[in-house]
Amino acid sequence: MLKFNSLVFIFITLISSCTMSTTNNTQMITPVSDVHSFAKPEEAVITHIHLNLEVNFEKHILEGFARINFKNITGTSHLTLDTRDLDISKITQGEEEQETTFSFGENNPLLGKALTIDVEKNTSVVTVYYKTSPTAAALMWLTAEQTAGKQFPFMFSQSQAILARTWVPCQDGPGVKFTYSADITCPHSLMALMSAENDTLLHKDGTYHFNMPQPVSSYLMALAVGDVRFHSLGINTGVYAEPVMMERSIYEFDDMQKMVNAASALYGEYAWGRYDVIVLPPSFPFGGMENPRLTFATPTIIAGDRSLVALVAHELAHSWSGNLVTNATWNDFWLNEGFTMYFENRIMEKLYGRDYADMLDELGFNELQETVKELGETSIDTHLFLSLKDRDPDDGMNEIAYIKGQFFLKTVESVVGREKMDVFVKKYFTEHAFQSMTTEKFIAYFNENLIQGDTAISNKIQLEKWIYGPGIPANTFRVKSTLLEKASTQAKDFLAGTLAKDLDTKGWSTHEWLHFLRNLPEGLTKAQIAELDKKFHFTPSGNCEILCDWFQHTIASNYLPAEAQLEIFLLNVGRRKFIVPLYKSLVKTAEGKAFAQKVYTYARPGYHSVAQQTIDELVN
Ligand code: BES
Ligand code: ZN
Repeated sequence: MLKFNSLVFIFITLISSCTMSTTNNTQMITPVSDVHSFAKPEEAVITHIHLNLEVNFEKHILEGFARINFKNITGTSHLTLDTRDLDISKITQGEEEQETTFSFGENNPLLGKALTIDVEKNTSVVTVYYKTSPTAAALMWLTAEQTAGKQFPFMFSQSQAILARTWVPCQDGPGVKFTYSADITCPHSLMALMSAENDTLLHKDGTYHFNMPQPVSSYLMALAVGDVRFHSLGINTGVYAEPVMMERSIYEFDDMQKMVNAASALYGEYAWGRYDVIVLPPSFPFGGMENPRLTFATPTIIAGDRSLVALVAHELAHSWSGNLVTNATWNDFWLNEGFTMYFENRIMEKLYGRDYADMLDELGFNELQETVKELGETSIDTHLFLSLKDRDPDDGMNEIAYIKGQFFLKTVESVVGREKMDVFVKKYFTEHAFQSMTTEKFIAYFNENLIQGDTAISNKIQLEKWIYGPGIPANTFRVKSTLLEKASTQAKDFLAGTLAKDLDTKGWSTHEWLHFLRNLPEGLTKAQIAELDKKFHFTPSGNCEILCDWFQHTIASNYLPAEAQLEIFLLNVGRRKFIVPLYKSLVKTAEGKAFAQKVYTYARPGYHSVAQQTIDELVN
């Protein structure tokens, strides 16, 4: 039986350029061209940004200034930054704030506009006075109705991949790292939080000061403002959530401190002080975002049974793979996500055992196979190293970077052995902490530190094929989950005529249910669907992962009793991973498309711009 959880209740009520490394505070610049940034960090590079911003919920804007410290490397008379849709009123240079001139490059709908600021050669600080646009792509402004508590508005940012420039003028490529600080003013009684040192307490006057003392890439700058409170979960872990979400959040994230301890034991000390999670409203477009010190998370992982906490392990793992050692450009995205998926699974194995971890791995591998089929086995989009020139980096956010990347590392582990692998990965993180990494540099490091001239090992791994070649390489390490095998057997039995009530589903976790549903073919009869629903209560499930797979069947079979719940789901959940496949399935038939268009008209304002962009293309 599926556990009912109160999320459904909530949903129902809701309705109405260059790489930089920092060693001992000296920055070393290695030019790398970044096709998604206009900045010229090889000439003058940002070292610190101080933000002073007022959060204006009436106008849906941030307004104030960004004071930018930079290092003039070549003696240039310009500082070049990325901007998109920013309204800049004035720019000054120097501590004494002398007004200076600036110009914009041509506007590109994806990349925005280069901002070139004229600077004197001995200047190392500029102050940009600006406000954001009410439609800034990174920022989502929610009405009180769209929150769990329904009392106060909420706003959050999502900067990855190239959206930081829509709320902060900066060098918006992952290869540039800088420290940041901020003075944020928001309405009284709301709490402001950033990917920085937060002091966990509500400031009644609405003023907050933040400091991020370690250098981070621009895509890791983040801000959230809402009616949230803090609850400690361990020595350096805790959760922020709206008061009505707090109890469930505390229960769900009970193992967070254990995860931090397990991760540190694997790959070295946690570098960021605290690790907290904020539970956002359901319109958050992703499952999670690894904003340093403060992971942003979707409430859809609160299943009531702790079954979806691998996402926390994932975002936590980014504290090493991504936040510490950062992909130099979005073409190198697999270095962030592949390592993180591998690391996530190691954390899950440590906490919940090999069988559980194998189950997650096999589910992922099946998704990878599907994606490769969709993209085409010879498509260059199935290479680990991507080529995203003139494309949205979002195009690279699929199972290739994540799961092909992960299975590359699993394959390496299977060849060299876990002991050697662990030493290598730990050394890789330690030696490149606070630096960025290109795929090329990774290959050199890999050859030097792991292969060490051993041609037998090198031939077994076939590194270049993995990185610059298509599809799923023949030497891929195969996982076989015994738990999932049982679930697929039950699916087969059901198809062969065993009644739902006679299936052996005792003790199944979310993952077995997902595998079961994925092993049933599209186009079940209405009677089969009704029988499954009656026995297992899928339609009223509060588990969004299960619901999403279930709705795939109900859509394909046009099973009308699930339609109202599907509508509620689409109106309330903005997580792209769920809503994109659902809209995709709906638009396959004329009836489905009409339904999708009708629901989308109401749902669209509640989706974040990155989700709107994808769904607009689908339903229109
Ligand atoms: N950093 C990503 C989210 C992301 C990637 C946002 C690229 C924008 C552009 C995050 O760590 C992530 O991978 N989230 C996944 C969760 C996961 C467990 C695979 C998600 O949101 O589904
Ligand atoms: Zn990730």
